[in-house]
Amino acid sequence: MDSIVVTGGNRLNGTIRISGAKNAALPLMIASLLTSESLVLQNVPHLADVESLIRILTNHGVDYRVEGKRKDHNGQMGRNISFRAGEIVDTTAPYDLVSRMRASFWVIGPLLARMHKAKVSLPGGCAIGTRPVDLFIDSLQALGATMTIENGYVIAEAPGGLKGATFRFPKVSVGATHVAMMAATLASGRTVLENAAREPEVVDLANCLIAMGARISGHGTSSITIDGVEALHGATHTVLPDRIETGTYAMAVAMTGGDVLLEGASAPLLQKALDVLVEAGVGVEETNEGIRITRNGGALKPVNVITEPFPGFPTDLQAQFMALMTMAEGTSRITETIFENRFMHVQELARLGANISLDGQTAIVKGVRQLKGAPVMATDLRASVSLVIAGLVAEGQTTVNRVYHLDRGFEHLEQKLSGCGAIVERVSS
Ligand code: EPZ
Repeated sequence: MDSIVVTGGNRLNGTIRISGAKNAALPLMIASLLTSESLVLQNVPHLADVESLIRILTNHGVDYRVEGKRKDHNGQMGRNISFRAGEIVDTTAPYDLVSRMRASFWVIGPLLARMHKAKVSLPGGCAIGTRPVDLFIDSLQALGATMTIENGYVIAEAPGGLKGATFRFPKVSVGATHVAMMAATLASGRTVLENAAREPEVVDLANCLIAMGARISGHGTSSITIDGVEALHGATHTVLPDRIETGTYAMAVAMTGGDVLLEGASAPLLQKALDVLVEAGVGVEETNEGIRITRNGGALKPVNVITEPFPGFPTDLQAQFMALMTMAEGTSRITETIFENRFMHVQELARLGANISLDGQTAIVKGVRQLKGAPVMATDLRASVSLVIAGLVAEGQTTVNRVYHLDRGFEHLEQKLSGCGAIVERVSS
């Protein structure tokens, strides 16, 4: 199994090109199930999760073609992939495919909308909490589907098709908003989704669905209105830049010091996280090319953070920010409100010499003068990358094991960091 070995001590200087967003690409790919025509997605990142989802989609009968990396009119680079679900040959998403990645459960929405039935295994994914599916079941039920759970599968049926309805999510959920919005595009009549997720990835999906002929308004606010149409058609859509990758590299530069342009990054997608970095004493400048992050010698100030749905501080940057705060001059409190088990990086950061204690859902981080390299491992994607960031300033070598978590969500991680002067290499054992 591969590991990443980081030798700490170098500052980061240069340019890092930000990839297309994993968490936008996945629902966009799933949207291809809604039409028999081709959906061409540009700027698709090359990630293990994208490859896993391709396997799931092909099992339903989707043909795909990879067109290779190129620049589009926005200057984005990434693979263009066309997906065509000419005929859905199988409405079952089996356990062995779905158990590896939670987002694959989301096929339930388009399959139900187009084929009026779906049988999808209960999902897997990163071990960051219980992650139930009640919001998916309740919202699809509100659209007229009969939902049952049998032998680990969710079975959804709507023999006469889905019917528009008003549904209020009792809790904000990105995935359940994606699914209900996709399902409602082909339902008869009007659907209003209240307390919907406002994440940029939901907006990106809505924009793509609109390009496919859907009638959607209010995306980006907590009330989304969808007027159902008979059928959707093909379209071409560019995946938005990855705000979590952007925030991760911004925190890496904040950690090591230096001057890096995050090319293609978009500040409004992560304004809260950028504001927090400024509070911590980091230079953040929007330019025509992206976002420039600088820190030259000054001390890092401790900042308290609470994770929240967008536009709040994202849970997917919590681990990376905690790594940064281990080196702040003082004590910070980091509270996780989205997932109940997203502190697995705490004990691993402690192995590097960090001083962190837990009080329920709050981590109390006391800054230390120096971290020291050690072998570490993490059981989720963002926790793993927080250890890489910590390794960039730790004295000596930090070996991050279980690299497959990183490969799920970070395109060319070692190349991007070493291109800016970090000593990072992948070793196979
Ligand atoms: C998406 O997961 C992201 N994944 C996650 O990123 C991200 O952490 C999360 O949104 C929150 O921003 C993708 O986009 C592929 P949720 P999702 O439904 O949709 C609870 C990463 O590292 N809930 O918004 O699965 C749930 O348990 C990943 O890239 C229910 O209670 O998250 C959680 O507490 C990890 N019932 C809260 O809602 C449900 O039916 C928010 O989860 C569904 C969710």
